Amino acid sequence: MLRFKLLVFIAAFLVISNITLAQQPSIAQKVDALMKKMTLAEKIGQLNQVNGDWEATGPVTADVGNKLEQIKRGEIGSVLNIVGVNHTRAFQDAAMHSRLKIPLLFGQDVIHGYSITFPIPLGEAASWDIPAIERSARIAGTEAAAGGVHWTFAPMVDIARDPRWGRVMEGAGEDPYLGSQIARARVKGFQGNGLGSLDAIMACAKHYAAYGAAVGGRDYNSVDMSLHTLWEVYLPPFKAAEEAGAATFMNSFNSLNGTPATASSYLQRDVLKGKWGFKGFVVSDWNSIGEMVPHGYAKDNYQAAEFALKAGNDMDMESRSYINNLAKLVADKKVSVAMIDDAVRRILTKKFEMGLFDDPYRYSNADREKSVLNRPEHVAAARDIARKSIVLLKNQGQVLPLSKNLNSIALIGPLVKSKGEMKGFWSLDVGDVSQVVSLYEGMQQAAGNTKLLYVKGCDITDTSHAGFNEAYKTAMQADVVIMAMGERSDMTGEAKSRANIHIPGVQEELIQKIMSTGKPVVVLLMAGRPMVFNWTADHVPAILYTWWLGNQAGNAIADVLYGNYNPGAKLPMTFPRTEGQIPIYYNHYSTGRPPQNDNDVNYTSAYIDLPNSPKFAFGYGLSYSTFGYSNLKLSKKSIHNNEKITVSFDLKNTGKYAGEEVAQLYLRQLVSQPVRPVKELKGFEKVMLQPGETKTITFTIDKEKLSFYNDQLVWGAQPGEFKLMIGSASDDIRLEGGFELL
Ligand code: BGC
Repeated sequence: MLRFKLLVFIAAFLVISNITLAQQPSIAQKVDALMKKMTLAEKIGQLNQVNGDWEATGPVTADVGNKLEQIKRGEIGSVLNIVGVNHTRAFQDAAMHSRLKIPLLFGQDVIHGYSITFPIPLGEAASWDIPAIERSARIAGTEAAAGGVHWTFAPMVDIARDPRWGRVMEGAGEDPYLGSQIARARVKGFQGNGLGSLDAIMACAKHYAAYGAAVGGRDYNSVDMSLHTLWEVYLPPFKAAEEAGAATFMNSFNSLNGTPATASSYLQRDVLKGKWGFKGFVVSDWNSIGEMVPHGYAKDNYQAAEFALKAGNDMDMESRSYINNLAKLVADKKVSVAMIDDAVRRILTKKFEMGLFDDPYRYSNADREKSVLNRPEHVAAARDIARKSIVLLKNQGQVLPLSKNLNSIALIGPLVKSKGEMKGFWSLDVGDVSQVVSLYEGMQQAAGNTKLLYVKGCDITDTSHAGFNEAYKTAMQADVVIMAMGERSDMTGEAKSRANIHIPGVQEELIQKIMSTGKPVVVLLMAGRPMVFNWTADHVPAILYTWWLGNQAGNAIADVLYGNYNPGAKLPMTFPRTEGQIPIYYNHYSTGRPPQNDNDVNYTSAYIDLPNSPKFAFGYGLSYSTFGYSNLKLSKKSIHNNEKITVSFDLKNTGKYAGEEVAQLYLRQLVSQPVRPVKELKGFEKVMLQPGETKTITFTIDKEKLSFYNDQLVWGAQPGEFKLMIGSASDDIRLEGGFELL
C-alpha cells in the first residue's frame, strides 16, 4: 500500500513538474516574443558590435561618436575589448536604459589566459596534453567570466604551415588531427558546463576559413586553394569545434579563391549553417565587412553589408556597415527582413542562454572578480602547463638536467630578466606584470647554493657587439651557461609576419661567442613561432624551445633545467632549415620523383642546395629519458568496411628518469584516387613511465580513421593497403606494419 502511495505521489509530481516546464516558455519562444516587439532599427542594432574604450585590436576607421548614447538608443548589441566588472557594468547600465533593455554581449580576445597568462596556444599545443589544454582554457574562461566577459574570440583553430605568418602562435600548428583534438578541448574548456554557468564564456572558432594559408605567410593576404585541401586540411578543426558546441564562429580577413571569406555563402551558409547545422552566430573579423572594398569585391560599405548578410555573417565587428546600411538595403529590397531576423534570432538566443535576460550584470560581480582571479590553483596550473609545453630539442652529453651542486651558473641574454615578454602576444593587461616570474627569478628560487651571475650581452634586435666581451668574461667564471634568447613578444602575432625568421639581431653571434669559452651551454629559445637557428642547433649541446610561457615561465623553465620536471613536449609544427623551404609540413604528398634520401637530387623533387628534410620535424621532442618501442601486434591483417583493427605495442622507459612519451600513430594509404599524404597522424597517447617500466599501448583503427574526402568531396574510405607507423616523431618511426581494407 505504501509502495502504491509512493508511486501515485511520484506520478503526480512528474505530471505537475511537466506542466510547470511546459508552462515555461522555451528560449525560442522568448526570442520570438521579444522580436515581435523590436523595430527594424533595434534588430539591426543587435547585429552591430563596436570596440570598447579599453584598447583597439585593429585600425579604428572613423570617429564613431558617443557609444553610450548609441547603446541607449539600441544601436549596439555587443561590445568588444572591454574587461573588468566596473567597466562592463557601466556599459550594461547604458543598455538597461534602452527601450527594450536588451543586454549587451561583451567579447574579448582571451587567447591564453585572462589575469593569469598561460603559454601561447602554439606552446600549449606542444604539450600534446589534451586535458591540460582544456584546463588552461577552463581557467581562462573562469577568470574572464568573473571579470565581466561573456565571450572569448578563441580558440583560433587555423592550420598553419608557414612560420613566417605571425599568427601561428595563436593556434595548434600544422596538423588537422592534433588541431581538431585541441580545438575540441579549448571549446569545452571555455564553455565548461555550458552557457549559462557563471564560470563559462562563449567560445568562438576562428578564423573561418583558411586564413592560415595566406600567400607568402603575409598576414591578411589572399588564399587560393583547392576545395579538396580546404576540406582535408583546413576545415577539420572547425568541424571539431562546431561538434564540441562552439557558440560562435568568426570569419576571416582573407579572400578564398577570389571571394572574401566574410562574403562566402559557401563557407557560412552552405557548409557551416547548412551541412554542419551550426545553430550559433557568426561574427565578422574586425572590419572585415568594410575590407571587402579594398579587396575590390564590393564597391562600398553598402554593397559589402549586402554581401556579408546574404553570405551568413550575422554580426558586424567594428565596420559599422550594418548599422549604416541595412535599413536602406531593406528599403531598397536588396536584403530581406527574414535574413536580418535570422541573424538577430541567433544572437538573442545566445544572450538568453547566457542568462543575461535574467540578470544582465550576472558576470559583473565585484566579489566574484576578487575571489576568482589569480587563485593559487590557477597559478599552479599555469606552471604545470608551462613546463609541459617546453620542447627539449637537443641534449648532447646530458648537459641537462643541471646538477644541484654547481658553484655558479651564468645567465646570459636579453630575455633573462624579462617579464613582459614572457606573456607573449595576445596577452591581457588584466594581471599585474610583476606577478610574472622571469627566468632569473625562477632560477633564484631553484638554484639553492649555486651562485647566479647575470649579464645581458645584447638586446633582442641589437646590431651592436658592445656587450659581448663582458658576457664572455662572465661565462668564463661559471660552471654552466644558460642563455635566454629569442623574439620580443610583439614579433609574432597579428600583423607580425616576418620574412626572415632567424633569431633576431646579433643573438646567434653572441651564442657563438659564448660557445668559444668551451663551457657547457644551454640555449633557451623563446619565441612565438618556429625560428631558424642552424648554427645553434648544430653546435650548442643543449637546447630548449620554450615559446612564451606566460606567468610561470621562470619557474617552469627552472623545473625543467633542474629535472624537477622531465620535458616531454613535441613540436606541433615543422621547423625549417631556412625560409626557402616554406611551406614545409610533414603530411605532404609524394611526387612522381620522390628522392630516396636527403642527398638524392638526381632528377628528383629536391633542392640542389638544401636537403628536403626539416631541421626539426613535426612530433619531435626529447626527454631526459629514452623510450623503447617493441612488440607491434595487429589484431587483423585485413578488415571489411565496418570492422576494426586493434594495434598494440609495448612502450618501455629505457632511461633513468621517470618521464612521459607521446607515442604517435601515423597511417598512409599506399594507393588511392586521389592520392593520400605520405604520412598522417591518426592517434597519439601521452604515457607516463617510471624507469624500466613497460606499458602496452593500444590504438583502434576503424573506417573513420581510414576515410578522407575524395575528389567529389565525399567522405569515405577506399579499399586498399595501408602502411601503419608508430613512432616518437613524424621522422622517427620505430615500428611499422600494414593491413588491408577489403
Ligand atoms: C583579429 C581577431 C580578433 C579581433 C578582435 C582581429 O584583428 O583578427 O582574431 O579576435 O581582431 O580583437
